[in-house]
Formats: sequence, C-alpha cells, structure tokens
Amino acid sequence: MADKVIRTIGVLTSGGDAPGMNAAIRAVVRTGLGKGLKVRGIRRGYQGLLNEEIIDLSARDVSDTIQRGGTILQTARCEEMRTEEGQQKAAAICKKYGIDGLVVIGGDGSFAGAQKLSRLGINTIGLPGTIDLDIACTEYTIGFDTAVNTAMEAIDKVRDTSTSHERCSIIEVMGRDAGYLALWCGIANGAERILMPEEHDYNEEAIIEDIQECRKRGKKNYIIINAEGIGDSMNMAKRIEEATGMETRATVLGHMQRGGSPTCKDRVYASIMGAMAVDLLIEGKSNRVVGYKHGEYLDFDIDEALGMKKGIPTYQYEIARELAL
Ligand code: ADP
Ligand code: F6P
Repeated sequence: MADKVIRTIGVLTSGGDAPGMNAAIRAVVRTGLGKGLKVRGIRRGYQGLLNEEIIDLSARDVSDTIQRGGTILQTARCEEMRTEEGQQKAAAICKKYGIDGLVVIGGDGSFAGAQKLSRLGINTIGLPGTIDLDIACTEYTIGFDTAVNTAMEAIDKVRDTSTSHERCSIIEVMGRDAGYLALWCGIANGAERILMPEEHDYNEEAIIEDIQECRKRGKKNYIIINAEGIGDSMNMAKRIEEATGMETRATVLGHMQRGGSPTCKDRVYASIMGAMAVDLLIEGKSNRVVGYKHGEYLDFDIDEALGMKKGIPTYQYEIARELAL
C-alpha cells in the first residue's frame, strides 16, 4: 500500500458500458472536489489514457448526468494496456498529469489494468461496472439492475404476442460468459427454460419433449431465455419449430439492454461506491475494489478479488425450473 498524499485523482470507464456509470463518475468528481482534490477525467478508458485524453472535471461538468445511461467519459477496450510497455506508459502518463489516485469503473479486465498500475506506483480503486453481474467479490454490479429490468420489460412484451399466437419464443439476453441476466429474467418473466453459458450441456431433445408436455398441460406459450453465450437463437427456433410443430420465433434483445436511464438502485449504489472510492484513495489505499456483500459496502484487495470464483446459484436455477410447472 502506498503512503503518499493524494492531491489529484483520475477517473475512467473501461470495457462494456453500464447504466449507472455516470452516477459513479459524478460521485467521484463531487466527493473528490468536496474533499479538496483536483479531479481529472480520462476519456475512452485505458486507450484514452495512453492517448493522453485527459480533462479537468468541475462539479458542473457532471451536472445533469445521474439520470443518463452510458458513460459521459466514453469507454473503450485497449489491447496495448495488456502489455508491459503499455502499462509502463500508462503509469508514466498518470505521473505526468499529477494523477496520484485513479478510479477505474469496469469489470475484471479493467481491474487487472488497475492492478498493474498500482504495482507501478499509481494508487488505484476499482468500481464494479458491468451489466453481467459477473464479478465474484460482489453481489451487486453497477448497471445490472437497470439492464435486467430493461430486459424483463421487453420479454413481457414478447410474451404477450407469444401467448396470443400460442407460440414458443426464444429470447436472447446478453451475457457472453455469464448467465445472471438470463437467470433473473427467467425467474422474473416466468420462463419455461433458461439457457446459460455456465450450463453448456443443455439438451435440446429434452426441451422439445418439455414443449410437447407443456402443450398437453394447457400452456399457451413456451418462453426460453437464452444467454448470448449460448447464442444460435435463430437456428434453435427453426429446429424447435420443425421438431414440435409449434410456431417458434427468436428475438435477440442485444445492446438495448446496456442503455437507458439507470434505475434508482443503480443510481444510489453507484453514487455510494463512487464516494467510497475517493475516501479509500484519501486513506492511502490502493489495489482495492469496492463491492457489496451481505448488505454492506466493502473493499477487497484486487489480487484476491480477481482470484475469487462465482458460479450460478444452483438452488435459484432449480427454483426457476420448479416455478415453470
Ligand atoms: P471488463 O473490464 O468489462 O472485464 P475487458 O475484459 O474488455 O472488460 O477489459 C477492459 C480493458 O481492460 C481491456 O480492453 C484492457 O485494456 C484492460 N485489461 C484487460 N485485461 C488486462 C490485463 N490482464 N492487464 C492489463 N489490462 C487489462
Ligand atoms: O457488458 C457486458 C456485455 O454486454 C456482455 O454480456 C457481452 O458479451 C459483451 O458485453 C458485448 O460487448 P460488445 O458488444 O460491446 O463487444
């Protein structure tokens, strides 16, 4: 842990954007300024840092942003940051701009970048920002609540038309490697099936049999929530229709799940986490990530956080199946 006095902090967003990132940026900026620090915004994530896209931020620069989706700082993915040279360069640029502390809002990949910068003498704090909820040290990630509500509302609409036409509907939600959005929508939308990347060995024959069974039991539709990591929704729809004779349609919700005005929960949690990140920097902490666990906001060592594993809660998955009776 570094013991230097923090005078200037930077903030960046990295990886996929998530609703609530602006609330976190706003909290970092205003907490920092309120506590006498200079605050700099880094545009376009690590790529922007390497390109020296660094701007001073005032309290007014974050006015009117808490309710906006996306990230006012823009975000990016940056291959160069994965290299040692890129990391050295990024640390040198932070030093050049007097940035003693950096708040990185993103997912595990972004935290790995923050970890490297911390080792190079820049105090770093990570905030969990991803709609995927796939960060092991925390039960909450900025953006998940908004995304899951957006997806839920969209799926309700698909369900209406699916019921009218007595169809099977496959709805693909985001989650390349993580099935939380799919699991939560599966429960919230009362889906018959949830397909998640964590359960790769899904059995299409069993689904086909189940559709036929459900028809016999008088079900008017059959909703399958399919995570992006499994994908193939269009072809799956064709195969299911052929095998069951039940009209089947696929809907891919896509990036609409990543946009939109953040929910109250995302605004509040992101604000608290943003303020906490600044307080941790002022305390001289580095290489920490803020999480929310067992009803408390906590901070974890990034090395430990990145080593933690998070699986899909089997019991919740079983409940989802039982409720589809
Ligand atoms: P997320 O932060 O949502 O997990 P990515 O995995 O795309 O998203 O990572 C975002 C960015 O973080 C990458 O484009 C890269 O710049 C940086 N990053 C990812 N992994 C590392 C790593 N091992 N070391 C340094 N930087 C990394
Ligand atoms: O933000 C997370 C996520 O939405 C994943 O679920 C998805 O696989 C990925 O981002 C897609 O990101 P992009 O289309 O920006 O590459």
